Amino acid sequence: MRTQVGIVGAGPAGLVLAHLLHLQGIESVVLEARDREYVQQRVRAGVLEQNTVDLLREAGVAERLDREGIVHHGIELRFDGEGHRIAMSDLTGGRAIWIYGQQEVVKDLIAAREAAGDPPVFEVSDVQVHDVDGDAPFITYRTVDGEDARLDCDVIAGCDGFHGICRPAVGADRLQIAEREYPFGWLGILADVAPSTDELIYAYHDRGFAMHSLRSPTLSRLYLQVDPDDDIANWPDDRIWEELHLRFEAPGWSLTEGPIIEKGITPMRSFVAAPMRRGKLFLAGDAAHIVPPTGAKGLNLAVNDVRVLAEALTAFYANGSTTGLDEYSDTCLQRVWRVQDFSTYMTTLLHRLDGDDFDAGLQRARLRYVTTSEAAARSLAENYVGLPT
Ligand code: APR
Ligand code: PHB
Repeated sequence: MRTQVGIVGAGPAGLVLAHLLHLQGIESVVLEARDREYVQQRVRAGVLEQNTVDLLREAGVAERLDREGIVHHGIELRFDGEGHRIAMSDLTGGRAIWIYGQQEVVKDLIAAREAAGDPPVFEVSDVQVHDVDGDAPFITYRTVDGEDARLDCDVIAGCDGFHGICRPAVGADRLQIAEREYPFGWLGILADVAPSTDELIYAYHDRGFAMHSLRSPTLSRLYLQVDPDDDIANWPDDRIWEELHLRFEAPGWSLTEGPIIEKGITPMRSFVAAPMRRGKLFLAGDAAHIVPPTGAKGLNLAVNDVRVLAEALTAFYANGSTTGLDEYSDTCLQRVWRVQDFSTYMTTLLHRLDGDDFDAGLQRARLRYVTTSEAAARSLAENYVGLPT
């Protein structure tokens, strides 16, 4: 089989890239290790920044997002039993965020691939990339039927997430890795109950961070800071609710409980691999970088990468220009580091750190500052809704 761009991974990065290329008349094939059901049901992040929504709209894949997505114009920071609103839209000239589950974005994009007659190839195994330094790279893999297959292409996009095979293919000796692990993780639940809040609540508490998000008018998504090595078996539903009540406690506010339909613990890390390229292989999304979820930026950063890559490939196929491809890694990394900074800021602002009272003093000072100074609030807001691309 031959195509122009071979894409490894049908997460948001791979699927958005395939769609943007399709709009430019550039052919691609998306190879995905999991089955379709799995990638469509996997519960991940749920906040789309303004830039992501703009891009999905321009690309004609935002019809359901515009119908079912919930636009938010502010968030709440809660500490010492009091809520403080950050009026994001007022502070950013009307920019906003949308609540729309990552798997919903994935569903819409798979539907668009199918409508174009070009669905991802699911359940492939033993994916390997070859000859990325030459002019004729190719990908080998095994199909769901157990047959060996080969995909020849001009360019390979490594959109296979943090545990994929494309980053290792760049070679450890060529990659500079910058990373940070945190001494905490997030216990996340999905609960079949109307959210107890209209806007997301980020709560700072001596017992640890807690967050109240949502997926729909009847589905709540909540998180608790926990030990990263903790076992979800230690957290029966009653204990989760009890802890959530304690960390969100505020006069005149109450949290409504409901059946927990999903729960799990994920570690948190910050990670950047550079360069995001080797020859004809380009890394995008989680394959190249990870941010802690506190800034809600993982998916949005992945979308930014493939926006840059699609523009570079469009120029390449239009007039043979390799400038965009040559600048791809540096261009993406500028935003990657901006977002790493913001995600680190949100993470260290809001989580209980293992440090001494000095850390806690600084955190309270920063929380008071960001909730009383318009300049500080605007800085948070413009990063949260996404700085213009
Ligand atoms: N071959 C083919 N597909 C693979 C392989 C492989 N060897 N390894 C992984 N994959 C697939 C995964 O099954 C997954 O569907 O690649 C896809 C990668 O998708 P994501 O992990 O979602 O990564 P990405 O598309 O970069 O999305 C960015 O934003 O909210 C954050 O971290 C969250 O997933 C999110 C990300
Ligand atoms: C989510 O809804 O899953 C979510 C929202 C905001 C975050 C992280 C996760 O910062």
